[in-house]
Amino acid sequence: MCMNKNFKSLLVTEEHGKFIRNVTDWKIDGLPPGDILIKVKYSSLNYKDALSASGNKGVTRKYPHTPGIDAAGIVAETSSNKFKEGDEILVTGYDLGMNTSGGFAEYTRVPSDWAVKLPAGLSLKESMVYGTAGFTAGLSLYKLEQCSEEKITGEVLVTGASGGVGSLAVAILAKEGYKVIASTGKQDKINFLKKLGAKEIINREEVDDKSGKPLLNRRWKATVDTVGGNILATVIKQMDYRSSVAACGNTYSPELNTTVFPFILRGVNLLGINSAETPMDLRMIIWHKLANEWKPDCLEEIYTECSLDELSDKIDLILQGQITGRVVVKI
Ligand SMILES: NC(=O)c1ccc[n+]([C@@H]2O[C@H](COP(=O)([O-])OP(=O)(O)OC[C@H]3O[C@@H](n4cnc5c(N)ncnc54)[C@H](OP(=O)(O)O)[C@@H]3O)[C@@H](O)[C@H]2O)c1
Repeated sequence: MCMNKNFKSLLVTEEHGKFIRNVTDWKIDGLPPGDILIKVKYSSLNYKDALSASGNKGVTRKYPHTPGIDAAGIVAETSSNKFKEGDEILVTGYDLGMNTSGGFAEYTRVPSDWAVKLPAGLSLKESMVYGTAGFTAGLSLYKLEQCSEEKITGEVLVTGASGGVGSLAVAILAKEGYKVIASTGKQDKINFLKKLGAKEIINREEVDDKSGKPLLNRRWKATVDTVGGNILATVIKQMDYRSSVAACGNTYSPELNTTVFPFILRGVNLLGINSAETPMDLRMIIWHKLANEWKPDCLEEIYTECSLDELSDKIDLILQGQITGRVVVKI
């Protein structure tokens, strides 16, 4: 591969404190070190990408920068003995697209330790319909099942249900046979959430309790929470005995005000979900399940597709909480 070869990339530059996004030419020798060069075919848009693309220094310290925490494509060049040229692979998490050039480009280069061989049962595109969002939903389900002392029966709540992690959590949990209750702020998404398999849709205000009570009526047997803040605090107060909440996001707020009563009087478990640093053996287990028994029949309903040129507008929309489901980026 010629090191001076130009390729297209969504580049974010910092100019006088403002962050400007342009699709522009970049060069292979401008990519970070790594033993796999990937010809990216698909990427996807996650909330974290939007933070990186809008100058959030907690996510990305230095600009110019190409975001994209997900990439799926073909090995263009490698010195690793784990993969060979032409292999279909995917990368999610680690440092991809944060402080390492990411998937919003025709090429990216990563350490082979970050790459997963595309599992049988998934196309490159489907792997990016999941992306980090689907992987996180899957990891949440895995941890909820692992931590459960008994089979989870009854109502399972998903908050932020119309978003990327939320919609895939609804679909995967429904595929697994759970009775899924979807909490959303978007009442026009009821049909969408029903199609994904939600049994009931509730307004997010129903799980945003302002009474100040330390405990509320027990309702949920398990929860995947993607929003944090007072919604997470409310849900914790509504959990049934010995049940678990997988806390994976903070689109409402990173704050959590709670008492210890749900934990010491009801035995509630609060499970932290960190997809980016998931060890490779667990990563493989989750991807295998996503390609097989967890794969929803409605995967086609969950995403819209955009090009690199259309991506900047989608980034603005996800920052406003206005994206439904997933956005797959065709590179
Ligand atoms: N832990 C991890 O490893 C991990 C991995 C991936 C993502 N995340 C985090 O998970 C969260 C969701 O990510 P995503 O990619 O799914 O984002 P997303 O597609 O933007 O979805 C977020 C959803 O949250 C809800 N929401 C937005 N603003 C809200 C507000 N002010 N109050 C309450 N709900 C609000 C909306 O759903 P409704 O309108 O349906 O309520 C929105 O669709 C983010 O915080 C992200 O950083 C964490």
